Amino acid sequence: MYYPEELVEEVRLKNDIVDVISGYVKLQKKGSSYFGLCPFHNEKSPSFSVSRQKQMYYCFGCGAGGNVFTFLMEYENYSFTEALKVLADRAGVELPEMEYSKEAKERADLKTVLLEINKLAAKYFYAQLKSEQGRLAYTYLKNRKLSDETITAFGLGYSNKYSDDLYRYLKTKGYSDEILLKAGLISADEKHGAYDKFWNRVMFPIMDANNRVIGFGGRVMGDAKPKYLNSPETPVFDKSRNLYGLHRARTSRKPYFLICEGYMDVIALHQAGFTNAVASLGTALTSGHASLIKRYVNEVYLTYDSDDAGTRAALRAVPILKEVGITARVIRMDPYKDPDEFIKNLGAEAFEERIRKARNGFMFGLEMLERDYDMTSPEGKTGFLREAAKRLAEFDEELERSNYIEAVAKTYRVNADELRKLVIKTAVRTGLARPPEKPKSTLNREKGKEDGILKSQRILLTWMIEDERIFSQIRRYVKADDFTEPLYHTVAELLYHQYEEGALNPAQIMNHFTDEEEHRRVAELFHTRIKELSTVQEQEKALKETIIRVRQHSLDERAKHLEPTDIAGLQKLMADKRALQDPRGLHISIN
Ligand code: GTP
Ligand code: MN
Repeated sequence: MYYPEELVEEVRLKNDIVDVISGYVKLQKKGSSYFGLCPFHNEKSPSFSVSRQKQMYYCFGCGAGGNVFTFLMEYENYSFTEALKVLADRAGVELPEMEYSKEAKERADLKTVLLEINKLAAKYFYAQLKSEQGRLAYTYLKNRKLSDETITAFGLGYSNKYSDDLYRYLKTKGYSDEILLKAGLISADEKHGAYDKFWNRVMFPIMDANNRVIGFGGRVMGDAKPKYLNSPETPVFDKSRNLYGLHRARTSRKPYFLICEGYMDVIALHQAGFTNAVASLGTALTSGHASLIKRYVNEVYLTYDSDDAGTRAALRAVPILKEVGITARVIRMDPYKDPDEFIKNLGAEAFEERIRKARNGFMFGLEMLERDYDMTSPEGKTGFLREAAKRLAEFDEELERSNYIEAVAKTYRVNADELRKLVIKTAVRTGLARPPEKPKSTLNREKGKEDGILKSQRILLTWMIEDERIFSQIRRYVKADDFTEPLYHTVAELLYHQYEEGALNPAQIMNHFTDEEEHRRVAELFHTRIKELSTVQEQEKALKETIIRVRQHSLDERAKHLEPTDIAGLQKLMADKRALQDPRGLHISIN
């Protein structure tokens, strides 16, 4: 299971990334890279790049990225070991037979073990469902109109009536109590010892985007409380960064997602052919979810429950999605409670019809606002329009605001010019005229600064690997410690080390990270877009400025963490600051 690093590296070197990816994606050479249509999101013009020099791929559209192992893990849903085996085979490298020794297990990355346990548990629950003991649960799912195919596709299962059979099963596999507690499948107290968290429930394994089981939801089959029980968050289960159904929705190749509330809604929608449905995991939609969704689509349809709570949840989700640039539309489910019941009663075509008729998020908000006013009376309607004007005034972009003014005027049968005047009056009166002065904007400014410095750090790292001569110059002024973001810092240390050994090898750096999310971020930082600078002077100037920005930030950070009693540290800091301010101090020449 745990192969020596040199062997992993040998396999990687013998599988050129351009050759491997060409087997999956049609690539065309453009400059020093190859480009094609990204297999991880839907697009019409190619933003997926593969570099022979870097031995990495990176999509400028959705941010997918990594080395040749990551590609197979993402594309084929392989585990790392599976990807390694396939590539070793392809290159004729023989892998030794590995045993599961006790030490090897202990050495193993915690996350890997937790994923292993979750996978075993999912298989166990599935087997229970298919056994005699699971007959009731199976009947329950059948009564909810799920086909065998659907049950298998979502890996549904059953946790049976004994309170510790999963625990005993996992113990036979050699896991310690400690690690089982960490996996969130077991609880323990002094009186009862260890016992299963889930019993007598229908089980919904929760998969991440790469088909790995990261947690569970379990539903009672009757009216007992709580109706659903979910795994707690663990090192592999981050509820605000995963979505139920994403592992299938991501390959649906539709330009939008359907977002619903419940596991059953997702399953019912997929069964009815809407394979682009996802749900948040028993929590409200967060900005983490929004950025995750943005990797795949720019548009979503919210199909929340038709009750008040569902309506409020939809209204709250719209701005969170808008923040990252996703357009949201809202689908109404009435007279039914949720998508599951809607489809069961009216079928897929009627749902399709609702998708076509979906209101955009803003108009949906107004529709909900109508409820607070008596729209049949002149006062009521005027009050409503005043509030609508206030909301219209909040659009920053002229064109967008104007389009919405037209739409509102048309829907509520008022004169568009009158409404426009009201909007402007409101904007002036409330001080909302651009830019909107809200406390949020200082936060944004802070965030902008933070993003700016991270970008500068990425620019340096990209520059360094693209041109070794520049590396030697940057290295004189910037040390690995100047990269303040922890991941960048780790990468920089590895990179400086490689440089000193005389063997720059960015793709190898990925072997140090186990997580695909980390691979994606490493690929990102080696693919920072550097403005096209035509003259050497321009390049030198830009490089100098970037170096100064990164150094300045690093010194500021150091100052923040300096002990007031550390006189030597303080003196060193002052000296470093002076050196940075000396315009003659920095010599960069690109040639
Ligand atoms: P069904 O009754 O099985 O159709 O469920 P539903 O999906 O219609 O459930 P509902 O709309 O009540 O809940 C939506 C989602 O909220 C569920 O899928 C769960 O993730 C979560 N949820 C519901 N009830 C509970 C609960 O009692 N506890 C917790 N932690 N989560 C719940
Ligand atoms: Mn339901």
